[in-house]
Amino acid sequence: MVTRIGHIALNVADLDRAVDFQEQVVGLTEVERTAGVAYLTCNDRHHELILVQDGSNRGYDHLAMQVEDAAALERAKSALPAAGATLLGGVYDGEPGIDRALKVLSPGGHVYKLFCGMETVDVPLRDGRPTHFEHVSTKVWNHRAEDRFLEAMGFRNADRMGVLASWWHCDDDHHGIALTRAPKAELSHYAYAFPDLNALGRVADRLRAHRGRKCIWGPSRHGPGNNHFLYLHDEDGAMVECCSELAQMREGYEPKTWSMHPGTINQWGGPPPPRFLLTGFPIARPTPGRPSWASSPGRTPAGAEA
Ligand SMILES: [Fe+2]
Repeated sequence: MVTRIGHIALNVADLDRAVDFQEQVVGLTEVERTAGVAYLTCNDRHHELILVQDGSNRGYDHLAMQVEDAAALERAKSALPAAGATLLGGVYDGEPGIDRALKVLSPGGHVYKLFCGMETVDVPLRDGRPTHFEHVSTKVWNHRAEDRFLEAMGFRNADRMGVLASWWHCDDDHHGIALTRAPKAELSHYAYAFPDLNALGRVADRLRAHRGRKCIWGPSRHGPGNNHFLYLHDEDGAMVECCSELAQMREGYEPKTWSMHPGTINQWGGPPPPRFLLTGFPIARPTPGRPSWASSPGRTPAGAEA
């Protein structure tokens, strides 16, 4: 069902400052701005990030996952409720750049938007940019129920760390979603893939140069996924992970169970700092009905239902 990770939509307090951060520090490019919503990319896809001007509703709006086609969305309407999810709406909510979508609430309380179709764009891209939106990491209290929901979306287990964390993939990347057991549902972080470790250093340089800030943790290398990592806060306090060399899944990969030891997630150094462990970005309150930002006159794609 899910064939690749799509993007994340984040509510932000100051849209101009948030866009500037993503462009100057992370290396994204704004493609379109409609009704207080900015769409940014780092490749030829219309968007790899959505920023929504909404200072009164701090949190992320949705985690977007791409599926094969409209038939897959139809299958999801029965398969996901059977796995404990609640349907929140479809078929098309006005988001530019995509064909149609289905929004669901996971048993762990996270908001997913499954979509199909993604417009391509040809815009000038920045030096030092990421290659693609890579993964999201969520905190959940009912870890096992969320595991089953991810399986219903078509994810396969990559690794586990005892009962504390699990990593899930839908394509060659070792993980597109990671789950961590926690007292309440929050976003731990969202992640971009970069070409190499040097590119992560450039992000740290730009964070210092443009914001006078330092990173939260890294650079170092995780155990599960074997990727380099560098964590920083974005303009609204959500945590961004910059990655390189994420393990690629190949035929015959056997899921591993890692020990519940801090060294598991840091192959080079010490345990994660409190700022990493304690950062949680909330889930925005659902906007009643058709959200105000989801209107883009003239962009309703062919074949979409009203
Ligand atoms: Fe991560």
